[in-house]
Amino acid sequence: MEIIVGKNAGFCFGVKRAVDAVYDLLKENPRDLYSIGPLIHNETVTKDLKSKGLIEINDYDDIKNLKNKRVIIRTHGIEKNIYDLLKFNNNSIVDLTCPFVSKIHKLVKEYSESGYKIIVIGDKDHPEVKGIVSYAKNDIYVVISKEDINSLKFDRNDKVFIVFQTTTNAENAQKLVDILRDLFYNSRLVNTICNATQNRQDEVKILAETCDVMLIIGSNTSSNTRKLYEISKKYCENTYLLASADDVKNIKKEKNFKIGVSAGASTPKYLIEEILNNVRNEF
Ligand code: F3S
Repeated sequence: MEIIVGKNAGFCFGVKRAVDAVYDLLKENPRDLYSIGPLIHNETVTKDLKSKGLIEINDYDDIKNLKNKRVIIRTHGIEKNIYDLLKFNNNSIVDLTCPFVSKIHKLVKEYSESGYKIIVIGDKDHPEVKGIVSYAKNDIYVVISKEDINSLKFDRNDKVFIVFQTTTNAENAQKLVDILRDLFYNSRLVNTICNATQNRQDEVKILAETCDVMLIIGSNTSSNTRKLYEISKKYCENTYLLASADDVKNIKKEKNFKIGVSAGASTPKYLIEEILNNVRNEF
C-alpha cells in the first residue's frame, strides 16, 4: 500500500490565521469571547474552542443583544448590516475575514457604485456569499448553474461585473463564465477563487486520476471539502469522505492499493494524522 498526501491538504492560510488568533485570544482571556457562527466548518475544532470558552452565536436576536463584548468575525466575513450593528453596540470586533474575501467585498462595492450589475458565481446560501451580496448597492445576482444564468433578465449591453465565491468549483465556474461572456458584451471579470482552493482542487484531480482510492478528510458541513469530494469522485470511483478516524472502517480494504489523500481548508493537521494512522493500522 502506498499513501500519497497532497501538499495542499488541510488548513489554508485564512483558516490557520483565524484559528491561531482565536486560540491566542482565549489564552489571554477566555471570558466573553463570541463568534458569529462556527469559526470554521470542522466540528472537532469548534468543539475544542467551545471547551476553552468561545461562545458561538447564531440567532439574529442574540447578535442584536451583544453589547460591549469581544466579537470575532470568521473567515467568511459577515453581512454588512450585522457588522454595522455590532459596531453600533460598542463591541470590540476582531475581524478575521480572510483578505481574499475582503477583496471581493471591496470590488463588489466599487463596481456596484459605478453602475455595474454584479454576478456572483457561488452558492446563494453560503455565508460567504450572503456577506458578498450585502456589499452591493443594488442589482446583485448569484448563479451556480446554466439555468440560473438563463433566468437573468439582463440586456446584452448591460455593464456586468463577475466575481466568484472563493471556494467555487473552478471547472464549473469556467463553464459559467464562458456562457456569461457570450451573453453580455460589456462584462468584466476578476477571478476571486483563492489560490489555496484552486491548488487544492487541481491537486485532487491529479491524485484522483492516478490513485485507486481517494480519501477526502473534512466535515460534510464544509462546502470546500464537499467540492473536493465531488471532483475526486468524478475521476476516482473509490472516493471516501472521512470526518473522523472512526470512518476509516467504511473503506473497502484491498491490498497493494495506491491511496491519495486530501483535506478541506478547515481540516486540522492532527485530524489528518489521526486518520492516516488508522488507515496504516487497518490496512
Ligand atoms: Fe481564505 Fe481561501 Fe482559505 S479564501 S479562508 S485562503 S480557502
